[in-house]
Amino acid sequence: MIHIYSDEEIALIKESGHITYLCHQHLKSLLVPGVTTKFLDEEAGRFIQSQGGTPSCLHYEGFPANICISVNDEVVHGIGSERTLKEGDIVTLDICTFYKGFHSDSAWSYPVGKINQEKEHLLHHTEKALYAGLKELKAGAPLGNASARIEQYAKRHGLGVVRELVGHGVGCELHEEPDVPNFGKYNTGIRLKEGMVIAVEPMLTAGKRNVVLLDDDWTIVTKDGSPSAHFEHTVAIREDGCEILTGE
Ligand code: MF3
Ligand code: CO
Repeated sequence: MIHIYSDEEIALIKESGHITYLCHQHLKSLLVPGVTTKFLDEEAGRFIQSQGGTPSCLHYEGFPANICISVNDEVVHGIGSERTLKEGDIVTLDICTFYKGFHSDSAWSYPVGKINQEKEHLLHHTEKALYAGLKELKAGAPLGNASARIEQYAKRHGLGVVRELVGHGVGCELHEEPDVPNFGKYNTGIRLKEGMVIAVEPMLTAGKRNVVLLDDDWTIVTKDGSPSAHFEHTVAIREDGCEILTGE
């Protein structure tokens, strides 16, 4: 069943989403060479709690950290550790907040200092792919249009589309129906309705699309070692488009 949220509920998801957004801004200022990913994770936990929220990822299906931190070839679900960031790395922070009964979910990939052209291209176009997908969202539109648009945009720019991981409904639970793949065909899938809330999250690679799970049973990396980027917003479906709930 796909949940339809009331305006009052969506306003609360947006409050949760604003904490997620502010946490991104806070952590972004700490992304310098030498910082450990564990420190970033702890800062995220402290920040979310200071705003009255709790980190949704912590203990989710046993996940052992406050947020997901994925570096370079790591696609998703990286766990903060003693690893330090280096100039030229890219790092994805995937932050989920639970606040006043509602979850919000937003991932963003950032450069650490100066990065090479391949990584610049990847970050630039993965962010654009997210917004290209969001443009397809409005009440009455088939969900597949956003998926198809993201895939088309990624392929046009020579990027791989990870297929094993998908976006999702979000709100009362961190992961709800429907699945929101980053590939598909126009005019397929469910028809969107006003009040649906979904997380759209293209995960793209600079090389092949294939991924593998590491021995920690969480971190997913590209099989060919190519860098990967991930941009995600939680949005509400409206009559004339979508409303971003994880922004300013
Ligand atoms: N933002 C992640 C997602 O949409 C949430 C992962 S929580 C974790 O899948 F606990 F699984 F890491
Ligand atoms: Co998500």
